[in-house]
Amino acid sequence: MTGRPSRRQLFGYAGVAAAGAAVTGGAVALGNNTASQSVSAVVGRDINPYGDHQPAIAAPAPKHAELVALTLLPGIDKAALGRLMRLWTSDIVALGAGRPAPGDTAPELAVPGVALTVTVGFGLKVFTLPGLAASRPHGFSDVPVMSHDRLQPGWTGGDLLVLVGADDAVSVVHAVRRLVADAAPFAKPLWRQTGFWNVTGPDGQAVTGRNLFNQVDGTGNPAPGTPDFDSTVWAPDGGTTLVVRRISLNLDTWDELTRSEQERAVGRKLSNGAPLTGTAEHDELDLLARDADNQLVIAKNAHARLSHHSENDGRRIFRKGLNYVQDTGATRESGLIFLSYQADLVSQFLPLLARLDAADALNEWTTTIGSAAFAIPPGFHEDGWLAQKLLA
Ligand code: HEM
Repeated sequence: MTGRPSRRQLFGYAGVAAAGAAVTGGAVALGNNTASQSVSAVVGRDINPYGDHQPAIAAPAPKHAELVALTLLPGIDKAALGRLMRLWTSDIVALGAGRPAPGDTAPELAVPGVALTVTVGFGLKVFTLPGLAASRPHGFSDVPVMSHDRLQPGWTGGDLLVLVGADDAVSVVHAVRRLVADAAPFAKPLWRQTGFWNVTGPDGQAVTGRNLFNQVDGTGNPAPGTPDFDSTVWAPDGGTTLVVRRISLNLDTWDELTRSEQERAVGRKLSNGAPLTGTAEHDELDLLARDADNQLVIAKNAHARLSHHSENDGRRIFRKGLNYVQDTGATRESGLIFLSYQADLVSQFLPLLARLDAADALNEWTTTIGSAAFAIPPGFHEDGWLAQKLLA
């Protein structure tokens, strides 16, 4: 297709993205298209890197993502961290628009139209650096080890985080490589995790997506663009916190259950994610409903009951998981990279986690093998850079 893109083509993706995930207009994306490329096919799928919040959080889940946690090198101080953030800011702006990053050794791998986003976070260590101790965000802490955790050092902790997402795996790998290369004088990778998610149904319509247990996962989330989302996710400064939990799923023993046993463990139907007390995905859970034998329809230890905000003093979180597989020779491990955003990690996330650790029916088939927590600074505007307020 040639010619000027229509308004709908330009902003088509914004509808799916829901409010909060602004989409770049023609200026950025058009400027980087060669004449031979189909303008309408790519324009509108670049996500605006600027804003009050880092933009990926409220945007639809990308098809592919990689997380890299890094350890600060000895001697890296506030000023050095500021230099890295300025470097990363220019990388993020360029790569997000499909332009090579400064010094890019593989410039052809930078392509527009893949909804590439980068989210950057700081581990607790950053807030122990001279001059930064007083800036630790309210309600930000590490996650204590839970009784069911079997944490492996190779998936745990980290001083910095980059989370790159895109609808194209090559673009993710390329962006990660650039960001990690630019960080080399400041920090070295500690762990990497690669995941995938699908928010598009066979008919092209937006769907919630499924984890590898075949559960519709994400239904109970506050929806981006709503006051519930804003109060759940954003701290007053526009930042948030992110918990990353690598949760191994035992698909073999899960597969030994009947379908109704699987559904009872969560309290929702596998077919469409509806509560066992309802018919449609977004029907409210009826936590009081009882069956003919006077048993609770949504069991006492069902995951959707235990995690429901009405059972947790109104506490909510915003989950945005990624499926993963980890192959070693012929052996495959499958799981969920559980990602949870909340304004206040201590008061919103930790009590919920403790409750699930104590009683969740799903614990029988899940093992958390990695855990990390990051403060996610606010977004940046055209004339600024990442975490400028913290590090300038
Ligand atoms: C591998 C482990 C996990 C799996 C497979 C899983 C799966 C699910 C599923 C299928 C639902 C119901 C659909 C939905 O609302 O999204 C759900 C809901 C939920 N889960 Fe998990 N989950 C896991 C771990 C966790 C953890 C670690 C937490 C928090 C500490 C958590 C918090 C929640 C919350 C808050 C809801 C929504 C409850 C509501 O308000 O309706 N989940 N999860």
